[in-house]
Amino acid sequence: MDVTIIGVAGGTGSGKSTLVKRLQEAFKDDDVATLCHDYYYKAHPELTYEERTKLNYDHPQAFDTHMMVEHIRALKNNVPISHPVYSFVEHDRLPETVAVKPSKVIIVDGILIFENKALRELMDIKVYVDTDADVRLARRILRDVCERGRTMESVINQYITTVKPMHEEFVEPSKKYADVIIPEGGFNSVAVAMLIQNIRSLIAAK
Ligand code: C5P
Ligand code: MG
Repeated sequence: MDVTIIGVAGGTGSGKSTLVKRLQEAFKDDDVATLCHDYYYKAHPELTYEERTKLNYDHPQAFDTHMMVEHIRALKNNVPISHPVYSFVEHDRLPETVAVKPSKVIIVDGILIFENKALRELMDIKVYVDTDADVRLARRILRDVCERGRTMESVINQYITTVKPMHEEFVEPSKKYADVIIPEGGFNSVAVAMLIQNIRSLIAAK
């Protein structure tokens, strides 16, 4: 089976997940699997909850990218995988795993997926979602307070101490590896339609 791997990168709150959802809907007939870099956040059983809340989750070292690369390689070779499950509320990896079958289209997303050479070399098409920092912060506050068990104060402190500096050091510079840059990601319906057309021709040419 010929596998097409689509990478979706961009800062926190940029609209990556919304874009992934649009692509999933568009390629469901081709059989699509999604893998988030977030699933591969490293576990820290040696630390207390309090200590885990203070870690830098926006540095490339926060992820077990090696495991993700191995999983994508396996799926490309028609071998099923089981990916870890991560809880943003617990700041921890959960005991369960999720099985993923090989499929024709694999969508990979995450803030730092273009920063890692081995990871980006696996991708057939790399899309960077570009959204202004103020919009991303506003979305992040709403999301993390509603869905990730955070206080507004903790979201803003984390943004200033780690999220923003790491974005500037690692995420933004990785934009240069993108094949396409989409302002506002999944919310940009014109760009999404163009992207879907292009991926279709890419799949057809394989
Ligand atoms: O969905 P999104 O791309 O925003 O997810 C990545 C973000 O998750 C990172 O910016 C990181 O700060 C955050 N994160 C967190 N707590 C964790 C793990 C990741 O706030 N335990
Ligand atoms: Mg997301």
